[in-house]
Amino acid sequence: MAALSFLHSQLFVTPALPNHDFSGQTVLVTGGNRGLGFEAARHLLRLNASRVLLAVRSLPSGDAAKELLEASTNRPDAVRVYEVDMASHVSVQAFAEQMRSLDRLDAVLLNAGIFADEFVLQDGYESTLTVNVINTFLLALLLLPVLRASASASQRELPRLSIVASDRHVMTNLPEWKEPNTFEALNDPKRAKMRLRYSASKLLQILLARELARRLLDSTGKPTIIVNSFTPGFTTSGLIANARGLTASTFRLLGKAIARETEVGARTLVTAIAMGPESHGKYLNDGKIEEAALSPFVRGKDGARAQEKVWKELMEILEQRVPSISRNIA
Ligand SMILES: NC(=O)c1ccc[n+]([C@@H]2O[C@H](COP(=O)([O-])OP(=O)(O)OC[C@H]3O[C@@H](n4cnc5c(N)ncnc54)[C@H](OP(=O)(O)O)[C@@H]3O)[C@@H](O)[C@H]2O)c1
Repeated sequence: MAALSFLHSQLFVTPALPNHDFSGQTVLVTGGNRGLGFEAARHLLRLNASRVLLAVRSLPSGDAAKELLEASTNRPDAVRVYEVDMASHVSVQAFAEQMRSLDRLDAVLLNAGIFADEFVLQDGYESTLTVNVINTFLLALLLLPVLRASASASQRELPRLSIVASDRHVMTNLPEWKEPNTFEALNDPKRAKMRLRYSASKLLQILLARELARRLLDSTGKPTIIVNSFTPGFTTSGLIANARGLTASTFRLLGKAIARETEVGARTLVTAIAMGPESHGKYLNDGKIEEAALSPFVRGKDGARAQEKVWKELMEILEQRVPSISRNIA
């Protein structure tokens, strides 16, 4: 069923060109120097975003992206470049500290991500877990007060935070969720199934985004910050450029046949970050809310239990790095 829905999206659906007006808004895109993040930044500039912030691993590649983006949209000085290494919680914290001095932050696209088929430790955890999951949510939590302060200063529309997940999450039901500690189990090199690691990281992103959204409701049940997650669909990009396993070769072959152009996939990033409260805690496919595109595991009872469990574990990891960070949610 999931495979059929994926093929249908890839072969027959072209996500609509976003037309939301971002006038006056500041939007942050992690990994905005290339791939989906870069094309999303270009759409945002076309749609009048006052400022687009690119959070990039290397400043030279960010500066090159800024030049290309500003020239191709005729928007001089609309892009700012910041350095962040999502593989380092110290770097993420330093970057988030810089964001505190912004006069405005309306929306955050957590896009930076990796596909790794070899087990490598970064920041104490396997690299996919570190970059796609742990430090992505560390950054999300560190930016919540910045988004809140920006919105309450001028009673603008609700701030938004979108996580670029993937339809690949359906490839695993994360058997490690039943282990006493899921993150520790995933971090055991002897047991790690790297063939499924990217999918596992995207499943974790979706579970954690749903749990974060559940915790960002006011006493009347309305979201205080809109959080959603989504898939851009299978898109030409550099994600598997250095990967070597069987999955990477399959991706490459399949990519030639059915991948979306990066610009087309990037439309879904912009649509997600423009959405209102109706998208809170929801999953988007082809740029539309489509909970049916979630795996049966995520929608079922085990998914709900796993969601609560991995959230608790993530918070233990993050609290060790930034004591009292959970207060940012309240
Ligand atoms: N392409 C697809 O088919 C597809 C499908 C579903 C979901 N996604 C998701 O979409 C997002 C973007 O992927 P993409 O396809 O655009 O891939 P990409 O072309 O490989 O771009 C990935 C971006 O993430 C950045 N990044 C990676 N590690 C980083 C780190 N440690 N610190 C800071 N930035 C880092 C990269 O920066 P550098 O240039 O420095 O490496 C790059 O800007 C990912 O989360 C991916 O999982 C992609």
